[in-house]
Amino acid sequence: MEELKVLIDEQTIQNKVYELAQQIEKDYEQKELTLVCILKGSTVFMVDLARKMNRKVKFSFMQVSSYGKEKISSGKINLKLDLPENLEGENLLIVEDIIDTGKTLSYLIKHLQTKNPQSIKLCTLLDKPERREYDVTVDYVGFQIPDKFVVGYGLDYNENYRNLPYIAEVE
Ligand code: IMP
Ligand code: MG
Repeated sequence: MEELKVLIDEQTIQNKVYELAQQIEKDYEQKELTLVCILKGSTVFMVDLARKMNRKVKFSFMQVSSYGKEKISSGKINLKLDLPENLEGENLLIVEDIIDTGKTLSYLIKHLQTKNPQSIKLCTLLDKPERREYDVTVDYVGFQIPDKFVVGYGLDYNENYRNLPYIAEVE
C-alpha cells in the first residue's frame, strides 16, 4: 500500500465544486450546455459539478490514451472515444481532472474545433502550472497545486484510488 497524505479534503472540494457550478450556471444562462467528460479521471468531478447546477445539461464522453512519460515529446495522443463529427450549435465545456503539461487539452481543443461547435471552454479541478509545456487557456480552475503526484476524486495511481472523496498526495 502507498502512503497517502490528504492534500485537499472532501468538504473543501465540495465547496469549490459548488462555487464553480454557480459560476458556470451564471455564464451559460439562456444557453444550451454540454459537459464533455474526459474519461476516466474526470468522471467523479463531472457528475458532482453537474448535480450542483440547477439547470439542464448534456453529458458527452471522450477518452484519450496517455503515452508513457518518455514519449511525452512525441506529442502523440491516441483518441479512444470521440464525439460525433458535427457539433454545430453546441456549447462544449470540457471537464478535466487535472492539467499537467497541457498536452492532452491542447490536442483535444484543436480536435474539437474541427467539429464546428458554437463554443468551447475548459474547466479543470486541478492545475499544476509549474509543469505547463503547452499553452492552453483555462476558463475555470478549482485549485492550483504544486508539482506532486496526486490521487483521489477521479485521479488514479495504476487505476486505483479514483474513489477517494478527497485528493491525496502519494508519498
Ligand atoms: P497533460 O496532458 O500532461 O496535461 O496530462 C494530463 C493527464 O495526466 C491527466 O488527465 C491525468 O490523467 C494525468 N496526470 C497528471 N498529473 C497527475 C497526477 O498528479 N495524478 C494522476 N494523474 C495525473
Ligand atoms: Mg485524465
